[in-house]
Amino acid sequence: MRVLVSGGAGYIGSHTVVRLVAAGHDVVVVDNFGNAKPAVIDRLEALTETNIPVHAFDLTDKDKTEHLFASEQIDAVIHFAGLKAVGESVQIPLDYYQNNLESTFSLLRAMRRHGCSSLVFSSSATVYGDNAPVPYQEDYEPLSAASPYGRTKVMIEHVLRDVAHIDPVWRIAVLRYFNPVGAHPSGTIGEDPQGIPNNLMPFIAQVAVGKRDRLQVFGADYPTTDGTCERDYIHVEDLAAGHVAALNRIAMSNSPIRTWNLGTGTGTSVLEVIHAFERASGRTIPYDVVARRAGDLPAYWADPARANEELGWRATHTIDDMCADTWRWQSENPHGYEDAAPPDE
Ligand code: WQD
Repeated sequence: MRVLVSGGAGYIGSHTVVRLVAAGHDVVVVDNFGNAKPAVIDRLEALTETNIPVHAFDLTDKDKTEHLFASEQIDAVIHFAGLKAVGESVQIPLDYYQNNLESTFSLLRAMRRHGCSSLVFSSSATVYGDNAPVPYQEDYEPLSAASPYGRTKVMIEHVLRDVAHIDPVWRIAVLRYFNPVGAHPSGTIGEDPQGIPNNLMPFIAQVAVGKRDRLQVFGADYPTTDGTCERDYIHVEDLAAGHVAALNRIAMSNSPIRTWNLGTGTGTSVLEVIHAFERASGRTIPYDVVARRAGDLPAYWADPARANEELGWRATHTIDDMCADTWRWQSENPHGYEDAAPPDE
């Protein structure tokens, strides 16, 4: 199929592009490059040994979105594009609501105008809110979130449910990610956060490579195995494979919408991640235990049974794999894509 990947130059999007090409799909990328560098596309073309058409604009531009669907024969869409920093969303909520919702509305309308009804949507475990029993299961209600970012995911999930209900020609996969980490084993693509990383793994990687001095551990007094928060870290390669599996599944499905968790079903603590990274890198990660971070939950992870059974998909990478692949990417690209050497001619 010819698959449009919105946000295809981003962290999860770029890894999914590689998997889509490997699965025999043709890929077209649309990205506003607001949180990604053009060098990613060069890396992707080198990795996949294919030309990847790129449309550089924001999906909130309805005219350009319409023109893309008029000029490209798109069979399916994987929709990653959106603003995604939890803390930032608290500071600029209107930007988050406007960008994440309007881009999705623009995309959905253009898809239907052009007879394209297969959509994989990038959602998040954050929609389970603060009270869902662990492990998280897809049928849990009510959805809620503690940040404007998370609430855009809740809202879009409701929009997709209502659209699928009234127009059952849709085939929509809603994928709820847990904590994506890791990098492609080649070390040529990976997570490249702008500024100070909000998330644990990229911050640890930057400490290991000497870009940051020390890690702050946000609390070690939680009711968990070692007092630090536990999360379901999932390798981005497993996550990318889950998107290809979901695309295949909705192509043969007779229901207009279905939700799947993409997680390992295992919780790993902050200290366990630190120790795994030290094993993978051979570097010591100095850290200080500081106050808890507002909004953090003690522990949660996925029940991945539905995706295991219905998608024939299972996460296979261990936390040691995640750290080893992250370290290879970070150590070979200490400044992320800023280091991007032009691909071999
Ligand atoms: C993990 C653990 C921190 C940084 C976030 C978003 C979620 C999703 C995934 C988009 C927590 C601790 C972190 C640091 C630390 N994103 N930590 N020091 O918060 O579980 O999930 O990313 O969908 O929506 O909320 O991930 O990596 O920020 O934190 O101690 O410098 O690491 O307290 O316990 P989180 P995270």
